[in-house]
Amino acid sequence: MMADNIVNIAMVGQGFMGRSHSNAWGQVNRFFTPPLKSMLHTVCGQEFENPQAFAERWGWKNASTDWENAIKSPEIGLVDVVTPNYLHAPVAKAALAAGKACACEKPIAGTLAEAREMAEAAQKAGLDTFVWFCYRRAPAVALAYQLVRDGAIGEIRHVRATYLQDWADESVPFAWRFKKELAGSGAHGDLNAHIVDMTRFVSGLDITEVTGAVAETFVKKRRIIAHDSGSGIQLTDEQMRYAKAGGGEEQYGDVTVDDTVAFLVRYNNGAIGTYEAARQATGNQNANGFEINGAKGSLKFNFEKMNILTYYDATRPRAVQGWTEIMCTHGGDHPYVANYWPDAHIIGYEHGFTSMAYDILLKLAGQTPTVPLPDFNDAYQTARVLEAALLAAERKAAVNLDEVK
Ligand SMILES: NC(=O)c1ccc[n+]([C@@H]2O[C@H](COP(=O)([O-])OP(=O)(O)OC[C@H]3O[C@@H](n4cnc5c(N)ncnc54)[C@H](O)[C@@H]3O)[C@@H](O)[C@H]2O)c1
Repeated sequence: MMADNIVNIAMVGQGFMGRSHSNAWGQVNRFFTPPLKSMLHTVCGQEFENPQAFAERWGWKNASTDWENAIKSPEIGLVDVVTPNYLHAPVAKAALAAGKACACEKPIAGTLAEAREMAEAAQKAGLDTFVWFCYRRAPAVALAYQLVRDGAIGEIRHVRATYLQDWADESVPFAWRFKKELAGSGAHGDLNAHIVDMTRFVSGLDITEVTGAVAETFVKKRRIIAHDSGSGIQLTDEQMRYAKAGGGEEQYGDVTVDDTVAFLVRYNNGAIGTYEAARQATGNQNANGFEINGAKGSLKFNFEKMNILTYYDATRPRAVQGWTEIMCTHGGDHPYVANYWPDAHIIGYEHGFTSMAYDILLKLAGQTPTVPLPDFNDAYQTARVLEAALLAAERKAAVNLDEVK
């Protein structure tokens, strides 16, 4: 319900993103003054992970193990989906059918068909939808978006984006992220989804063709262990049965998703781009970044130094041209920052979610967000690019976006 300037939230899932979203929904009313205040109404999890204890720790009023009923409550105004990818579509479609606005984690869905169904359901329902591409709201990325619109780098010729992590060596046990039916894809949907969204957002360009792609799975089997709540790893019931029936013998699950996907693209203005996602890029823990080269300048961003945007202004006299590191923490000039700390009192990962929670509350109140928010249709366009890359890798050939619907 969105009465008394309050929106009651039901969140489904209580893992890594469950914690980050709980923090954001709790903090947004303190750091910002949103026109609608968020109320942490109900968290939905699974029996074995004790949703009641999670609710008490993170400030949710209620806890439930039955998301299907919880989200239908007339008190709920917004459903927030933070489950494994295969559950995004069922929960989001149920939320929209119940007349609720819906915010969903990325990638929008496990499959392109589900992403399309979600976009169609959102359009039919005429309700607000959001996808948590949180990196758009790093102040440095929001500044890059603004600089491109101001013409600071001129016509874009090259986009180079990488999202590299290194957590998934052979010692990492089986989890939903390694199973196609539950995750859709591996590093691709997890990481390329972010950089495709971020570069589409900053550049304003559309990808028209995936010219070539390569995908590989290095670790093809992973040990199945019992649930470990600390790591956020979630086994399915079927995997738990295997683990318990082990009788001392180790059980292994087949990895059916990629560890890495790299691809080349063309954009609608004639520019070209490259994308690379990897979970075993040793030494890179969360190296999520891009470089965009235009005719008049360039921009570089790396999330591991998220408060900095690097800018090259090629219109300056040649003698003084050079890369400028801009500390994007000035409240007067950089988006969102005025609501946190004084200049150069650095902000971090969680602030992207809090800033996005604020923009969601603005949109729900009929106001304009600070920078554009991705809705289900926008995230479906990103999903089309991801699907085209997987097709290009499979076919070893170019794939035009027109054929991927
Ligand atoms: N925006 C980001 O930067 C970012 C970062 C990490 C993950 N994600 C996305 O967030 C989503 C969740 O990822 P995570 O890392 O939090 O996973 P996780 O494994 O830590 O948590 C998943 C949660 O979903 C719950 N769940 C599973 N089945 C359920 C059911 N039937 N009913 C109720 N709850 C159920 C689990 O119990 C668990 O609490 C994924 O889509 C992932 O891609 C986004």
